[in-house]
Amino acid sequence: MHHFSQLMTQSPLLETVIRSAQIVARTDVSVMLTGETGTGKDLMAQAIHHASPRAQHPFIAINCAALPETLVESELFGHKRGAFTGAIEDRQGHIRSAHGGTLFLDEIGELPLAAQAKLLRFLESGDIIPVGESHPIKVDARVIAATHQDLSQLVRESRFREDLLYRLQVVPMDMPSLRERSGDIDMLLNHFLLHFAGEHQLPLPKLSQEARTALRRHGWPGNVRELRNLCERLVVLFHGRSVELGNLPAEITRSAPNALGLSFNQGRGFSLPEEGIDLEWLESDMIRQALERSRGNKSRAARLLGITRDTLLYRLKKFDLV
Ligand SMILES: Nc1ncnc2c1ncn2[C@@H]1O[C@H](COP(=O)(O)OP(=O)(O)O)[C@@H](O)[C@H]1O
Ligand SMILES: [Mg+2]
Repeated sequence: MHHFSQLMTQSPLLETVIRSAQIVARTDVSVMLTGETGTGKDLMAQAIHHASPRAQHPFIAINCAALPETLVESELFGHKRGAFTGAIEDRQGHIRSAHGGTLFLDEIGELPLAAQAKLLRFLESGDIIPVGESHPIKVDARVIAATHQDLSQLVRESRFREDLLYRLQVVPMDMPSLRERSGDIDMLLNHFLLHFAGEHQLPLPKLSQEARTALRRHGWPGNVRELRNLCERLVVLFHGRSVELGNLPAEITRSAPNALGLSFNQGRGFSLPEEGIDLEWLESDMIRQALERSRGNKSRAARLLGITRDTLLYRLKKFDLV
């Protein structure tokens, strides 16, 4: 069972999302969860359900991307026996299974247009018509949808219904990526290393300073899921030992400081490497280093960076470093 407390964070960005989710949980409004893969959309959907008055009723999670195209409508809305070849028995469908509870529609961007029209009808009228049936059936299910796609882009491409998008995102919630809350990386590393050391009954591996720095700087395209999987791997392979920079996967060490590729030459200053750089990362990293060197003294850190203390405070907030 998943609760809000399982969404670990110290980031004001994610804390704000969690707070609005806690408020919304008590109501029946539809929720639209957006965010990159691994940012905690599943965890959030389950937490909302378990904090809602529907907690004692079913939580039905459907991955729309995994439904076979020809069967989507019958899977979701059910069918009547004999409605089509192969329909040898009545089928109630996932929406009816969620009666009284919550229906979680993951990867909603993958839902075919015909099923989108039927879903909109359900959201507006509260009833469904199973395939081959002529009478509507009342169903009481709260809908939470999720996607990693940009649905307004899909709307522009006519692959997603605009009216359904508006109907679903009564309360939009955007799960921030781990890059946007890099201040959480250390805490999550410690948490998952401990968790897997316990689960596998192995002594903790110890991250060297260089390894930890590289992990803080990594872009984490797979977000918390990627970090969690890495922690399990480190526990299994390096239990009781020290993890050095070279022990980390290449995609992580590539962005490590000495591999950044920024070279300095007299006269031209820094030159932009062929493959480009991550300016936001560079900026936040310089700020972090200045704070380290000034032992947290913000005025001194600002001087090291050649900016005012106010500008530094603003950036600290922007990069979630406070
Ligand atoms: N803030 C968080 N704190 C702790 N664990 C998290 C957090 N966000 C995600 N996770 C974990 O990371 C993994 C991926 O989360 P999930 O909810 O499946 O992401 P998504 O559905 O967005 O791809 C899961 O194991 C989940 O428990
Ligand atoms: Mg998911």
